Amino acid sequence: MNRLLFIGLLLLAQITFADDGYRLWLNYDRLTDAAARSVYARSAQFIAVSGSSPVLTSASDELQTGLRGLLGTNVPAIASAGTQQGGIVLAVGVSGADTSGLNEEGYRIVKRQGNILVMGKTAVGVLYGAFALLRHIQTGHSLDTINLVSNPKVKLRMLNHWDNPDGTVERGYAGGSLWKWYELPETISPRYRDYARANASLGINGTVVNNVNASARLLTGEYLPKVAALANVMRSYGIKVYLSVYFAAPKTLGGLKTSDPLDPQVRKWWADKTAEIHRYIPDFGGFLVKANSEGEPGPQDYGRTHVDGANMLAAAMKPFPGVVIWRAFVYKADPKADRFKAAYEEFTPFDGQFAPNVIVQVKNGPIDFQPREPFSPLLGAMPKTPLGIEFQITQEYLGFASHLVYEAPLFKECLESDTYAAGKGSTVARVVDGSLHGYSHTLMAGVANTGSDRNWTGHPLAQANWYAFGRLAWDHTLTSEAIADEWINMTLTRQPQAVSHVRAMLLRSRAIYVDYNVPLGLSRPWTGVHFAPEPWQNRSPRPDWTAVYYHRADSAGLGFDRTATGSNALAQYRPEVRRQWENVDNCPLPYLLWFHHVPWTKQLSTGRTLWDELCTRFYTGADSVRWLQQEWTLAKPAIDPALYADVAGRLATQQREAIWWRDAWVLYLQPFAHKPVPAPFKQPERTLDEVKKSVDSYLLR
Ligand code: GCU
Repeated sequence: MNRLLFIGLLLLAQITFADDGYRLWLNYDRLTDAAARSVYARSAQFIAVSGSSPVLTSASDELQTGLRGLLGTNVPAIASAGTQQGGIVLAVGVSGADTSGLNEEGYRIVKRQGNILVMGKTAVGVLYGAFALLRHIQTGHSLDTINLVSNPKVKLRMLNHWDNPDGTVERGYAGGSLWKWYELPETISPRYRDYARANASLGINGTVVNNVNASARLLTGEYLPKVAALANVMRSYGIKVYLSVYFAAPKTLGGLKTSDPLDPQVRKWWADKTAEIHRYIPDFGGFLVKANSEGEPGPQDYGRTHVDGANMLAAAMKPFPGVVIWRAFVYKADPKADRFKAAYEEFTPFDGQFAPNVIVQVKNGPIDFQPREPFSPLLGAMPKTPLGIEFQITQEYLGFASHLVYEAPLFKECLESDTYAAGKGSTVARVVDGSLHGYSHTLMAGVANTGSDRNWTGHPLAQANWYAFGRLAWDHTLTSEAIADEWINMTLTRQPQAVSHVRAMLLRSRAIYVDYNVPLGLSRPWTGVHFAPEPWQNRSPRPDWTAVYYHRADSAGLGFDRTATGSNALAQYRPEVRRQWENVDNCPLPYLLWFHHVPWTKQLSTGRTLWDELCTRFYTGADSVRWLQQEWTLAKPAIDPALYADVAGRLATQQREAIWWRDAWVLYLQPFAHKPVPAPFKQPERTLDEVKKSVDSYLLR
């Protein structure tokens, strides 16, 4: 009777248990296969930790937590394995053949003398190994013949938080900031540690805690102890803290008359400030700087250059191991200019002139995190300057937190692009990992999609984007499929059919979004709200902040001519790259309207005219959201009910909004194209005015 009651309660607990998504991919739910559990448990009877350090303690704690969840057993941590077998041994600094192929953060996991040996040259390597071992179990792999060796390909793997001191997040769609500035440094939210754990599990080793549109407040004596409190939590997970800095801080905070980077007093102010920061945070990671961009102050305000500004901060940082990360996201409000060309024009003249501790951080594309962009030409043009890449994980142009867009294919598309900077095979990945030009520093940054929402990312499936960014920063050769599989198995379900439905959804989601949003290389218009369709938008203090600037629709055709007859932005690429894109007759369709102004009636390689092809994409893209919904329904039996309902709701929103986007584009472009919507698609039911009204409501107050 008691047993029956117990089983009943257990079942009830399982039915009523709602996964709120907080645990991310570290959910460590009990493996359902009891036989598999006991096989794993035989190899995990103890955790032997030789040596002690906060990072090693994290490694051992993580293994204990993970194994307790997955196997349902408490695995004791002991000081040394001695002659015991059947356990896990964490070993730092082992020399010889075992660690010869490892870099400072790499790990090796092997079976040795009846134990599983997790080795690294450093404690943080062991920590990454511990997470890799857990992932191995979470994804159902055997421990019998385990033999994993892995080194991060990029040295600085970093999240950029666009979080403000007032608790808001610029382009954040998952609640407010994670950092409770007003409560720090006294109150340490348990979330900070969970944030560190999640990042460390991916190998992320740096976090810029504040917005690139920086407030000088972060540099004050009031805020530095708060930042230091965060750094104290991050440290035991191998994560360094960085700050975005406000270039004019010497004036606004220091009371100086100028922030001219060549002024001796300004230089001293930064040197003193940098030293002060290090008194609070001895292992401070460095500065991130947005200067002379979108109204932010910078060296050009004083007739100086990006090099003058960056090297001034680099001099302040020189006594310390940290770096200065200088962003190349710059463009001027010049109606005649092509914004596409701006970063290349401003930065290439300075190649080789930046101090050795400076990294230039370049957005993946030449414009601004669009759903599809060609790789930034700058990435193929600065062989003597360490270039880091910046991706945007938060979905500023990808439907905020209501559209499903799995970003690994977007990241991979850029990383695998060939710049031809040093001949064939000079991929963006090889530029960024330093192997092409021998950069001293390497960096991959992702603008975070995290916030105070319980599930961290708003859209539950957007967790996969944080995950994918971290995994690719560690190893850019991983495939989008493999990363999706890991994430689904670790986070959502291990039921094979459900895994395959969710995998299919993730892998197709970005292409679907592009189809209803910006097909054929159409530029996603800048809009007042960065969310709603506004292709008609033509009024702004800056021409490059209108939609018409980008798509260039007129009665002749659509798209931005960037060939020699137009802005000639294509000349910024190597000839081999240029040749792929410069001819309208064979330019790959995903990039067509990025580089050409194409007549409406032009026949494309699909056999359809431009207008018909556009309509086909808009309509099939929007229809495909229904397919996403169907796949989600098929996965339902294996998904936590609360999480299922959350995603189902968002997919319904996405479906409605995809039609909105489709209708806005079709109705706006149709008067230029002078064509009917081709069969079998039907003319939108609403008018352009009705769509405009629905968008205008976003701007009402
Ligand atoms: C985009 C974004 C801004 C951000 C900027 C940047 O323009 O909309 O919010 O500040 O990028 O990357 O600096």
